[in-house]
Amino acid sequence: MIDRDTLIAAAKEAVSRAYAPYSRFQVGAALGFADGNIVTGANVENASYGLALCAETAAVARAMNDGKRSDLVAIAVTGGIEGVLGDPVTPCGRCRQVLSELAQLGQTDPLVWCVGSHSISEHRLSDLLPHAFGPASLG
Ligand code: THU
Repeated sequence: MIDRDTLIAAAKEAVSRAYAPYSRFQVGAALGFADGNIVTGANVENASYGLALCAETAAVARAMNDGKRSDLVAIAVTGGIEGVLGDPVTPCGRCRQVLSELAQLGQTDPLVWCVGSHSISEHRLSDLLPHAFGPASLG
């Protein structure tokens, strides 16, 4: 099981590792697995602006490089300008697709906690990305 507050604390901690000198919008993401493991990521920007890597995508790459292919049960995302939280951060479209790949591999539908300074919105990944294209779509 994954404790919501623990996962959110890990995402908040990850914000401090963001490399976001161009947008100044620092994001942290934490992936929670069924065995209680947590894998975090932060966004990594580039002088070639369009090449920015989002926090969620960085976390998925890290988890999959660690051999994790299943049991993704929860995701927390947070951040803001210079790391100061404001409105809840919801995963961008590309990140929804990247997260969905890992979820579908393990046939889970993770809870997604989008965390702001004063509120947390909770969603199922399948609600954020309905009718998702995934591994099974390739036949
Ligand atoms: N960003 C993320 O890391 N995750 C999201 O889901 C939304 C956007 C990053 C990308 C870029 O470095 C900065 O936030 C501003 O868009």
